[in-house]
Amino acid sequence: MKILDKITTKYRKTKPLSGCRLGFCLHVTKETSVLVMAAKQLGAEIAICSANPLSVQDDIASFLGSEGVKVFAWKGETFKDYKNCMKMVLKFKPHIITDDGAELHVTAYRSNAKNIIGGTEETTSGIKRLKSLESKNLLLYPVIKVNDAKTKHMFDNKYGTGQSTIDGILRSTGIFLAGKHIVICGYGWVGKGLALRAQGMGAIVTVTEVDPFKALEAQMDGFNVSRLSKVAPQGDIFITCTGQTHVIRQEHIKKMKNGAVLSNAGHFDVEIDINYIYSQGGPPITVRPNVESITISGKRIFLLSKGRVVNLIGAEGHPPEIMALSFANQLLSIIYILDNYAEMRNKTYDVPGEIDYNVAKSALESMNIKIDSLTERQIVYHSDWQ
Ligand code: NAI
Repeated sequence: MKILDKITTKYRKTKPLSGCRLGFCLHVTKETSVLVMAAKQLGAEIAICSANPLSVQDDIASFLGSEGVKVFAWKGETFKDYKNCMKMVLKFKPHIITDDGAELHVTAYRSNAKNIIGGTEETTSGIKRLKSLESKNLLLYPVIKVNDAKTKHMFDNKYGTGQSTIDGILRSTGIFLAGKHIVICGYGWVGKGLALRAQGMGAIVTVTEVDPFKALEAQMDGFNVSRLSKVAPQGDIFITCTGQTHVIRQEHIKKMKNGAVLSNAGHFDVEIDINYIYSQGGPPITVRPNVESITISGKRIFLLSKGRVVNLIGAEGHPPEIMALSFANQLLSIIYILDNYAEMRNKTYDVPGEIDYNVAKSALESMNIKIDSLTERQIVYHSDWQ
């Protein structure tokens, strides 16, 4: 994660995060540990809990603990533990909260937490919740929408989730993809990456959408577009990535073929109606780690990772090259908040354009890729109306 190295090298002497307590609610993975250690090198004290009870890599949690980070996370936390871990992070009285899904931001809001001067948010679903708080004037501090940086969603959501979701499905099931019919619900950034990668491995891809622009885009990108109710009997593998609730419901599941595989890449475990699934056909049988078989209407349906983020539970999340981009935005946004919070209001902010631009430049440099720049003549031509 060379971009993070570059940032720590730049700020190692001045330690801009000295005296700052950071509260992280992120997937506790090896890539996250690089962000945590980078922030620590810049002087921060850190407490961390997990953005998902099942995504914690226990060896990484233990490593961070040994480095003096306050870690409140372990794989397989109950929901109650997961909520308590968040409260422990808030007890640490963080100045800045870095969240993935806004669960810690919302917990901070509900407990009217003091001391917090700002926050950052990593994912689309988290931003939706923060925007809702903002629209009701309920935000307690300014929050930078890291997800909305170009160097985040255009790469992490698309290529990162595209690859790691397929990885999670393959590691969980060992299924052969070529010739399989994959139904992707949602053609936003995540859906586009998934469709691209699934097609690249020879799958037949159908997209379902509710947005006519996105549906049209999927069609012109060369995918089938259909209603979920129509394609439900044909799909071999279903992947939700909408950020919406109850996308795959009972009326769809009942129509699915024997052996259909259901998985979710959206942030929360609300996209597949898991309550309906678990209410059917007796207790689920775990046929492989992260794969449960449930008999519904005489057919076997396979649910992956209990309907939670399959890429982080069935696999290891995004590879380091991708997380380097997202976490460079996180680290630079944290430094930005510390420098500017006095002038910021309790609202959501974009990542400053200069940070986003520099992350893109640094990423290219780290790959040893050089690009052209505009000549003087081109600059003049570009700004000329004649
Ligand atoms: P997005 O907003 O770009 O795309 C979501 C798409 O779903 C939109 O095009 C929307 O029209 C469509 N949609 C909404 N309701 C639908 C329905 N009922 N049926 C079909 N389509 C529907 O969001 P993005 O960035 O693609 O993120 C999607 C989800 O994935 C979010 O929950 C986000 O937080 C999560 N995410 C997960 C990651 C992971 O590592 N698993 C990484 C990045 C994002």
